Amino acid sequence: MIMIRPAKNILGAIRLPGDKSISHRYALLAAIARGTSKFHNFATGQDCASTLRCIGQLGAKVRQSGDSVEIEGYGPNLQQSVAALDCGNSGSTMRMLAGILAGQSFASELVGDSSLARRPMARIIEPLTRMGAKVRFAEGGMPPLHIQGGKLHGIEYATPVASAQVKSAILFAGLFTTGTTTVEEPLRTRDHSELALRAFGAELQRSRNRISIAGGQKLQAIEAAIPGDISSAAFFMCAAALFPKSNLVIEGVLLNPTRAALLDVLSGLGAKLAVINLQEQHGELIGTVKVEHGRLRGVKITGGQSAALIDELPVLAAIAPYTEQGIEIRDARELRVKESDRIAIVAKNLRAMGAKVEEFEDGLLVPGQQKLHGAEIDSGGDHRIAMAFAVAALKASSETRISGEESVAISFPQFFAMLEGVIER
Ligand code: S3P
Repeated sequence: MIMIRPAKNILGAIRLPGDKSISHRYALLAAIARGTSKFHNFATGQDCASTLRCIGQLGAKVRQSGDSVEIEGYGPNLQQSVAALDCGNSGSTMRMLAGILAGQSFASELVGDSSLARRPMARIIEPLTRMGAKVRFAEGGMPPLHIQGGKLHGIEYATPVASAQVKSAILFAGLFTTGTTTVEEPLRTRDHSELALRAFGAELQRSRNRISIAGGQKLQAIEAAIPGDISSAAFFMCAAALFPKSNLVIEGVLLNPTRAALLDVLSGLGAKLAVINLQEQHGELIGTVKVEHGRLRGVKITGGQSAALIDELPVLAAIAPYTEQGIEIRDARELRVKESDRIAIVAKNLRAMGAKVEEFEDGLLVPGQQKLHGAEIDSGGDHRIAMAFAVAALKASSETRISGEESVAISFPQFFAMLEGVIER
């Protein structure tokens, strides 16, 4: 249980641990590349540690010192793991690693914690099976997964759900096929896998929402400094937007356009944002973001915007009562199958703080101009819920207690310490 007291202001300059999505992908591709890859500012959370542990079991040599990681590749043909591969809480690890394992000549067992054991895997089982892998799974297409890899053939596949993890699993499996693999997504999702594959030396073709990769391409090790995680930055940006005298600078943060939709939403709401020092590395855009308060109006988030903001929606909902016209989120059904049912748990916790909320199958309506009071918040062991409600608690009229707060270690172990560092009371 952690106690969060109301704040007066958010002030300071911060630099965040490496982006989780990019860290997973660089580690997975480094494992099947030739040579030793070197990464600086690698994500510090448990999810990426799960990925590193899994690739270590599959033959890659992983050396870690602080947030620097060296990975000596073993692949493309990995070594069979004697033990099951434990993905912990990480859906990204399980889904993307499954793509690589589908192309191996051995069988693997993928397991996870109680939250991961309830997450849908049919979305990757179906395309990987079509490519030639044999996958066994628990009832309802859930983990654990038993993947018998083998010779794969290229497919053309339109993903029914907009999911970067599914797209990535198929593209990674596509490295091991005869012929070309094409994935088509219904909405554009984060493109880190495409950029990372290119950085490691593979060729891909994109035309609109269709991406193709030819099988048999070999990867070469890279060196990279991983940009700060924009989904972690989201909590700080939203916190800063709440207080009239805030002034927050976030340096070296990922600004890939498929991840940076929050900047548009926050400035659309009325916050004052500036981006400076833009740079590019391995195709990823990085920059410094300055956030100041502005009167926060309201917004309705739907369609492709909901998909682009999927990890930021809980914190947007959590600050919605403090806006003038409220925030409505629709087309976000996917939130129900994340680390927790994020629609239900956000609604429950906002109500616990005294807010009115309307819950829909695919989203939430949180009216504006509401005053919240402190409450006991149950994070449900979901890192993004714990962090979202720590932000809501900063502007409540009394102190808030959050249980299951240790879950922040999944993506951002330093969260509470860094938050304290920028709060003025
Ligand atoms: C991720 C994709 C999203 C996101 C998750 C990370 C990724 O999941 O919610 O936190 O790194 O590809 P889906 O692919 O299930 O939408």
